[in-house]
Amino acid sequence: RRLYIPEDSGALAVGADAVARAAEAAGAEVWRTSSRGLFWLEPLVEVDSAEGRIGYGPCTPADVAAIVAGTPDHPKALGPMDALPYLQRQQRLTFARAGLTRPLSIADYEAHGGGAGLRAARAMAPEAIIQAIVDSGLRGRGGAAFPAGIKWRTVAQAAGELKYVVCNGDEGDSGTYADRMLLEGDPFLLIEGMAIAARAVGASRGYVYVRSEYPRSVEIFGRAIEVARAAGWLDGFDMEVRMGAGSYVCGEETAMLESLEGRRGVVRAKPPLPAIAGLFGRPTVINNLLTLAAVPTILAEGPAYYRDFGVGRSTGTMPFQLAGNLRFPGLVERAFGVTLRELLFDFGGGTASGRPVKAVQVGGPLGSYVPEEHWDVPLDYEAYAVVGAVLGHGGLVVHDDTADMARLARYAMAFCAQESCGKCTPCRIGSTRGVEVIDKLLAGDDRQESLLRDLCDTMKHASLCAMGSMTPLPVLSALNHYPEDFRR
Ligand code: NAI
Ligand code: SF4
Repeated sequence: RRLYIPEDSGALAVGADAVARAAEAAGAEVWRTSSRGLFWLEPLVEVDSAEGRIGYGPCTPADVAAIVAGTPDHPKALGPMDALPYLQRQQRLTFARAGLTRPLSIADYEAHGGGAGLRAARAMAPEAIIQAIVDSGLRGRGGAAFPAGIKWRTVAQAAGELKYVVCNGDEGDSGTYADRMLLEGDPFLLIEGMAIAARAVGASRGYVYVRSEYPRSVEIFGRAIEVARAAGWLDGFDMEVRMGAGSYVCGEETAMLESLEGRRGVVRAKPPLPAIAGLFGRPTVINNLLTLAAVPTILAEGPAYYRDFGVGRSTGTMPFQLAGNLRFPGLVERAFGVTLRELLFDFGGGTASGRPVKAVQVGGPLGSYVPEEHWDVPLDYEAYAVVGAVLGHGGLVVHDDTADMARLARYAMAFCAQESCGKCTPCRIGSTRGVEVIDKLLAGDDRQESLLRDLCDTMKHASLCAMGSMTPLPVLSALNHYPEDFRR
């Protein structure tokens, strides 16, 4: 009997290897796959059946002998995976293969629809590829939501023979793991997206920048590049994976370029835009990993198919990553327009602690704390901007009613002080002063509140990059929506 057992880091962390060894000892053939992203069920074990794959989880080594033997009414049985509401309610385009394929098998990848985007792109003129991306409405998934097709066109039209495609996989936001799941679980998807981007803009070389906290991703992705190269996928374009240098701000695109060039990750002033003068001074497409991973679907299915998902100018799907205090944390890919309330309760099942949800930080450590009054706002870039929040990279970190929002606001300033690259004063000095001002406010000095607001105003408007300009979002959202936590 064949058992499918994930080898994603999330599954390995809770003992998937031991489960796989037990399955082999019980005589099963074991295929190590990517993860479905249903992390509360890991280690998840699946077997083939007439109704599709049947799931069992979370499993211990003691559970598997009975699965291998086909014992009916197994206590960990979940039924057909495709019938699980958590998966049924999703719209998985980028994560269509999650949990199904073996990460380094091109045959598995192609058997599940992979490769069609690159084949289509190779039959198209570069400008037609760019037009397809423009028509799809795809916007940057790192958070800034800049139209990807317009960025590609800028690079295509920039003067110069040598151009680069750089994938930003420095996934540093709290609660995020979508990039890691793709690097480890579906690496050919990213390779395909980058090969398409390279053809569109005339780039001959690509770099994938992966954070140092993801050593497994670096290793697996590096092996995937070798497999793809041997399979002839990298015709006229070559790529390599680079490990980051362990700083949050290296996810900022110009600091990442500095890091890739071998220097300390310090932000560069823009202009020039990287699209004009990026890596080693050459025109460079820099896209977030999730942006590039959305590209093969657009080429394979056509821009209209992709654009029909979503609302308004937020087209397509977003892989939301549920984390923090939730019963069912996991990856939920849905069209833009889904609400936080649906993600928190229909998918997340409420808090793991059983207490009421108090605040949700959406979009990483520089994102706002979203209070209940905004949980029905559709998750789209424009609607979120109206309520002073951001989607960022799609990460959600949930807090229950024991959370101390003043402490979390202080933490945001302390995080900025820790991670600041030091290039500009509002962020470098402002964040340290911010911690002090919050401490004085909490010690009972009410005059500090207006000082804190002034400081946030300066940081927001005068910082060189998002690190300093967005730190006010968690601080002020905590202060505005949970003022009682600041009165001691
Ligand atoms: P930005 O708005 O300056 O630029 C967005 C992108 O569009 C950049 O790649 C820029 O080079 C490009 N661009 C802008 N104008 C262009 C033009 N005319 N032609 C071609 N390309 C053009 O935003 P930035 O500073 O890159 O990112 C800020 C965002 O980053 C924030 O909105 C925040 O949500 C997000 N963020 C994401 C984090 C993560 O871990 N993913 C962490 C912190 C912030
Ligand atoms: Fe560096 Fe902070 Fe200024 Fe960004 S805002 S350039 S991280 S000092």
